[in-house]
Amino acid sequence: MNSLALLSCLILCFSVFTDASYKYSYDYTSPPPPPKKSGYPSLPPKKSTFGIGFYSKSCPQAEGIIRKAVFKAVLMNPGFAAGIIRMHFHDCFIRGCDGSVLLDSVPGKETAEKDSPINNPSLRGFGVIDEAKALLEKVCPHTVSCADILAYAARDSAFFVGGIKYAVPGGRRDGRVSLSSEVIQNLPPPFFDAKQLEDNFKAKGLSLDEMVTLSGAHSIGVSHCSAFSNRLYGFNTTHPQDPSLDTRYASFLKNKCPRPMSDTQDDPIVNLDVSSPIHLDNKYYLNLRNHKGLLTSDQTLYESPLTSKLVLNNVKFRSTWTRKFANAMVHMGSIEILTDNKGEIRKNCHFIN
Ligand code: HEM
Ligand SMILES: *[C@@H]1O[C@H](CO)[C@@H](O)[C@H](O)[C@H]1NC(C)=O
Repeated sequence: MNSLALLSCLILCFSVFTDASYKYSYDYTSPPPPPKKSGYPSLPPKKSTFGIGFYSKSCPQAEGIIRKAVFKAVLMNPGFAAGIIRMHFHDCFIRGCDGSVLLDSVPGKETAEKDSPINNPSLRGFGVIDEAKALLEKVCPHTVSCADILAYAARDSAFFVGGIKYAVPGGRRDGRVSLSSEVIQNLPPPFFDAKQLEDNFKAKGLSLDEMVTLSGAHSIGVSHCSAFSNRLYGFNTTHPQDPSLDTRYASFLKNKCPRPMSDTQDDPIVNLDVSSPIHLDNKYYLNLRNHKGLLTSDQTLYESPLTSKLVLNNVKFRSTWTRKFANAMVHMGSIEILTDNKGEIRKNCHFIN
């Protein structure tokens, strides 16, 4: 019945989507430059072309084509929405949102980001980006960057599984470097505590509140047992199991992730959000309050005095969280981007030109 609910939402959402041309709740405009004090005439401020409606002239169908490709995939499997949102995060945290996560490894060189054990085999949704890119290359060749496709696709994913609507600025250009070693250096691991997560996000220009807000993406999708099984077995010398984990939830998880992990090759998956796994919503924070956060990095947000109040606010105020999530996604989507004459527009998202 869950999938039925999703289906009806998707149909509803899609009709909302197609007849009402977006009413953006978020306006991405840079603040005006400060007034000049000197009497000299000032040059017009150098304006970056990064902005909303970037393709309105060069490829007006771009956002629609991407949205349809995402819709098709998510209708088939809502897990693609989770995969694409995570992929955008993993793109932006390594060398900025430059599509570097989409590049294939090249023989004889260090493997690419997508082949880091953090991304391979768990990262999913590459085919959705490929499909959108192939269609776009037919309609407006060599125009829409892979980095932008991913950013728009993440936005569309958030809409189809969460009804969250926001405008995404375009104009990112694609990078030419992708190194698997940079993934582990930049992405936070699932055993980080609140302070470590804060520092990791700060290094990317994201605030503590944005870190907590974006963690709400874990209200969809799955995790492999290996990311959290330390909480279930041999936690530490005094506690066999993580005491911040609800005991009944822990039994449920032990059933899903039978020990010992190392004895078996397979690494089962479990929903990140135990209460509403295919809806992007604030239930994630309610889980944390109920000690049902799956990863250490989830539960720490409630256990730590640094962030517990932010969690409780997100439990209480759904629409505030939704708005903050949209804004934080836009902010994350602008990390260290390549614009104007930097980078390139890849012909194929798998390869540099
Ligand atoms: C706060 C630090 C974060 C940590 C430590 C973290 C860690 C993880 C881990 C370990 C998984 C499970 C991967 C697997 O085993 O398959 C996961 C999944 C996921 N993450 Fe995060 N993550 C964080 C932040 C984020 C952010 C900021 C986003 C997006 C805005 C995000 C989106 C997702 C999604 C959607 C999934 C599910 C993917 C799927 O089902 O394919 N995460 N994350
Ligand atoms: C084990 O973990 C608990 C809960 O996090 C903590 O209070 C305790 O100090 C830890 N024990 C050791 C020996 O590290």
